[in-house]
Amino acid sequence: MSITIPAPADFHVHLRQGDISELIVPHVRKGGFDLVYVMPNLKPPITSTEQALQYKAELEKIDSNVEYLMTLYLSPEITPEEIRKASAAGIVGVKSYPRGVTTNSDGGIESYETYYPVFAAMEEVGMVLNLHGEVPSDPSSNIHVLNAEVQFIPHLFKIHQAFPRLRIVLEHATTRAAVEAVKKCGPTVGCTITAHHLALIVDDWAGQSWNFCKPVAKYPDDRQALQDVIKEGHPRFFLGSDSAPHPPEAKSTSTPTHACAAGVYTSPILLPFVAHLLESFDALNKLEGFVSTNGRSFYQRPYSSQKVGRDFVTIKKIAPRKVDELYTLGEQKLVPFWAGKEVSWEIEE
Ligand code: NCD
Ligand code: DOR
Ligand code: ZN
Ligand code: ZN
Repeated sequence: MSITIPAPADFHVHLRQGDISELIVPHVRKGGFDLVYVMPNLKPPITSTEQALQYKAELEKIDSNVEYLMTLYLSPEITPEEIRKASAAGIVGVKSYPRGVTTNSDGGIESYETYYPVFAAMEEVGMVLNLHGEVPSDPSSNIHVLNAEVQFIPHLFKIHQAFPRLRIVLEHATTRAAVEAVKKCGPTVGCTITAHHLALIVDDWAGQSWNFCKPVAKYPDDRQALQDVIKEGHPRFFLGSDSAPHPPEAKSTSTPTHACAAGVYTSPILLPFVAHLLESFDALNKLEGFVSTNGRSFYQRPYSSQKVGRDFVTIKKIAPRKVDELYTLGEQKLVPFWAGKEVSWEIEE
């Protein structure tokens, strides 16, 4: 059996910088994707048009057959003027991270209102706001990794209400509550779902650092909601892998004072892995919408007008095969998610 789908697109990926990117970037195409939406959390973060364009040029130097949609990191340096400049330069969105958000003195409530002039400019020029939908942990208010996303939902509603024409993506949803919240919003609000959150629940990362990522995988019922919304074919939900590679020693090792790194690396296996998972919950017929057309419609990037890359990608069913255990390039090493486990789809070359 084989399935051919139009130009898959990954609407959330971490490609890093420097030598390690030489190993990471070619894995985008290896995983079946020629269009990626690139996260700006470098060191230092990408907060200007100039930096974003320079980063894009570095990525294109590594692989010019991929289209890179660039983003800025929401921070006080970003002004409405910078937004207009960024939009004119083709930068597509702005990612907001919880730590970038100011906290009011009363009760640790986060506030996005200082950024309203920036959001207004984004709405005007048609840029997309990408929300890392978690509030920062705060034990004194009983906020922790398991409820951080649910606690964020009021912020989503508030921003959407204040800027109904601003396109907003709730990134890497992990809970039933988040899925229901996005469904309640209007057509300008979309939602990415990762591959790994379709596979993992809490039990899988408790004591298993290779499965540890943020937001953490939640309860079985939450995973069910993610699977169901894909199975339903809801058009505002689409793939954003959040593929987030870290060196093996950072993944595998924690110390009494240091946690292991959050993030799993799915880029090299992405399309076969997504097909494998969708097949497991009987949603293969929604693969095209989930990995290609839904996200492209939301981002107004029809595959028919794409600039580079394959027009179609074909995957075929194979006897179960083990995922690679290690990728290397010179001194660089990376271990993919699902290493050593089986996937029964591959990309037809
Ligand atoms: C980081 C963050 O929130 O700032 N995300 C995370 O750990 N979930 C990413 C970053 O380094 O910016
Ligand atoms: O697990 C994660 N890792 N989640 C994020 O949001 C960031 C990412 C990273 O950059 O490593
Ligand atoms: Zn995020
Ligand atoms: Zn991310």
